[in-house]
Amino acid sequence: MHAGLPEGDQGDPLLPGPVLAAPFHLRGAADAARHGYGRAANPTWERLEAALGELEGGEAIVFASGMAAVTAVLLTTLTTGDVLVAPGDAYPGVRDIAHRHLAPRGVEVRLVPSEESAFREASEGATLLWVETPSNPGLRVLDLPALAGAAAAAGARLAVDGTLATPLRQAPLAAGADLAVASASKHLTGHSDLVLGYVAAREAALAAELRSWRALTGAIPGPFETWLAHRSLATLAVRLERQEANARALARLLRARDDVGAVRWPGLGSVLTFDLGDEQRAQAFLGACRLVAEATSFGGVHSTAERRARWGTDAVGAGVVRFSCGIEDAADLLTDVQDALRAG
Ligand SMILES: Cc1ncc(COP(=O)(O)O)c(C=O)c1O
Repeated sequence: MHAGLPEGDQGDPLLPGPVLAAPFHLRGAADAARHGYGRAANPTWERLEAALGELEGGEAIVFASGMAAVTAVLLTTLTTGDVLVAPGDAYPGVRDIAHRHLAPRGVEVRLVPSEESAFREASEGATLLWVETPSNPGLRVLDLPALAGAAAAAGARLAVDGTLATPLRQAPLAAGADLAVASASKHLTGHSDLVLGYVAAREAALAAELRSWRALTGAIPGPFETWLAHRSLATLAVRLERQEANARALARLLRARDDVGAVRWPGLGSVLTFDLGDEQRAQAFLGACRLVAEATSFGGVHSTAERRARWGTDAVGAGVVRFSCGIEDAADLLTDVQDALRAG
């Protein structure tokens, strides 16, 4: 609610509006002002970073998207001869960057299942352990202190993509991770109206390196999106509670049906998955929902769902639906899902 809000002078708004600027007044020396050029610094970023830093317990750097944040971490922490251990069953963007851009530059890429033992076994000689918890779309929850121990034993850094959990449900840095990474396009901002990402780092030197990467590559968020994100952050706790209540009720409903298989909900967040058997039934279900938009992504106030296999990037069955609960009235949502299952 209050994270990152300035104290404010008499007559100031509670959350100052976005500062839209390319150059700022900068007279004399290049470092005469904190803000000189909009690719390097912006006061609207700094307010959101203060909020995220407070929530994550580290120094936050906002990026143009979750993938810009992911890329910044991978490219600033890994170089030729290094070893990356990453999940083979999590968000595919990480695997793509690893295969298409890291491996050709001489980084060894070890993909493992999202299990603590698999990471531990693969960690010898590693430079960076990258984990995602809960994983997407597998929805596996990992033991972060155990993974931090494995990383420390191997002399590696641990980076955690906690997009599905948000800092309200998981604290990677407090659990021993070096870096917490997230797409803010999902629950964190929650209105399906912007794309944004961030990294929070424990070490100031690593944070400075990431900030410098952002300025150099220009992977910067727009001030307006950044401001919208900060505004939306104030309702994260209430949105999440309502989304989780809906997800819990939906998981219970689906588990009680014998025509729905493999219902998974990790007990936090809005996302659940279930298997409707085949492509035809899953598409018929999605087409029959009236309150649930067929769309990718997750975490928004409006319920969304998709047949995950349509992307061809994850090892999931043709009838698996990834469903993100919004904040609709629970009875309305459950009725809509039941009607759609009947239609499908
Ligand atoms: C777990 C996870 N990490 C990272 C990303 C990438 O985020 P963005 O779409 O904001 O670039 C996503 C997007 O779906 C995601 O689900």
